Amino acid sequence: MQDPLTKVAGDGSKAGEAPVVKARGLEGVVALDSELSFIDGQQGTLIYRGYDIFDLAEHTSFEEVAYLLWNGSLPNQQQLDEVKVQLRAERTLPPMILDVLRATPEDANPMAALRTAVSALAHFDGEADDMSPEANYRKAVRLTARTPAIIAAFDRLRKGQEPVAPLRDGSTAHNFLYMLNGEEPGPQAERTFDVCLVLHAEHGLNASTFAGRVIGATLSDMYSAVTGAIGGLKGPLHGGANIEVMKMLLEIDRTGADPADFIRKKLANKEKVMGFGHRVYKTVDPRATILREMVEELSEERDARQWYDYSTAIMETMASEKSIYPNVDFFSASVYYMLGIDPDLFTPIFALSRMSGWTAHLLEQWKENRLIRPRAEYVGPRDLKVRPIEQR
Ligand code: ACO
Repeated sequence: MQDPLTKVAGDGSKAGEAPVVKARGLEGVVALDSELSFIDGQQGTLIYRGYDIFDLAEHTSFEEVAYLLWNGSLPNQQQLDEVKVQLRAERTLPPMILDVLRATPEDANPMAALRTAVSALAHFDGEADDMSPEANYRKAVRLTARTPAIIAAFDRLRKGQEPVAPLRDGSTAHNFLYMLNGEEPGPQAERTFDVCLVLHAEHGLNASTFAGRVIGATLSDMYSAVTGAIGGLKGPLHGGANIEVMKMLLEIDRTGADPADFIRKKLANKEKVMGFGHRVYKTVDPRATILREMVEELSEERDARQWYDYSTAIMETMASEKSIYPNVDFFSASVYYMLGIDPDLFTPIFALSRMSGWTAHLLEQWKENRLIRPRAEYVGPRDLKVRPIEQR
């Protein structure tokens, strides 16, 4: 692999200054300080504000994690009750957003539908351009409350069904599954989904979060920043990988291919295997470890052992052939599939959870804001002269 770090000469630094380091894809570059999460890519450790992800997945709910990310400490019971009330109060979509979703083509990419609807939410929020910390906190809650309703409403409308209004109570996980399916989920489906939301809530300066912070750092508004972040998450090298993983598992199932052979062929064709590899983790992503156990349990319970078996065979093949390990997108795909969710909603669900992390990053950015503005090394020609148009 090419050395990602290159010293750049002639980049415009002043005489006597150390040369600027150029990193392909900004690999290894530390762009800012953050108190939100810590990743040890060698050990496979992930911490949100001091708490290990295994501890959080076992003992907290998505609402507790969102509160933790926004406020810096886990809520006590009263604080948790308050944040739940705030989320419930914001769940109902403005009617015009339902009109936007009704006008969206039913074959639209759900991430594009989400991006448009989240952007449109700004028109119906009187605080959209209020940059006070209090208003920004309220918008973080509002966006996190409304994203699930948008995804569920879009899915129902494209299937010719009417959107379902949120319940008066219940968790984010409960309400999302209810608004999506029109019936309340059982406790086990709710808890499984809730753990998925905890696992996806925050992950440092990944591409979508960085995009959001770059937009936020111009002192644009929260809606603009998270709309940009949704665009970033949509890509198959980032959050969009979970959809591609499910397509691959379904293809193996449909064709009866041997999963190990299927993967070896892909590698021989120099194709990337979606759900594997990571810019920071050089070992198993700890979220994948937790999700793998969930796949095993669900596939036993639902008599769908094949998803666990295919996934394990693929994981072992990738480890032996390439020493590349699964990331969060690999096992989340079959968890969502076994919960009965359509594959093209997997990335929007990632956004649903990550909205808490994106907004927490924006609150952090605006505490001590500085414009984020790196440079490019100019590698094009110089000294060209403009010729009259008829001579070009
Ligand atoms: N399948 C096959 N080979 C891979 C994979 C993969 N999934 N990932 C990395 N590699 C190989 C590359 O081909 C490259 O090999 P080479 O040195 O022989 O050319 C080497 O490993 C390094 O890979 P890069 O793509 O340069 O690593 P980078 O840090 O730029 O990319 C990324 C990280 C984008 C996640 C990459 O691993 C990838 O494309 N994975 C598949 C998509 C995916 O699962 N994305 C989700 C990531 S998690 C998230 O965003 C939520």
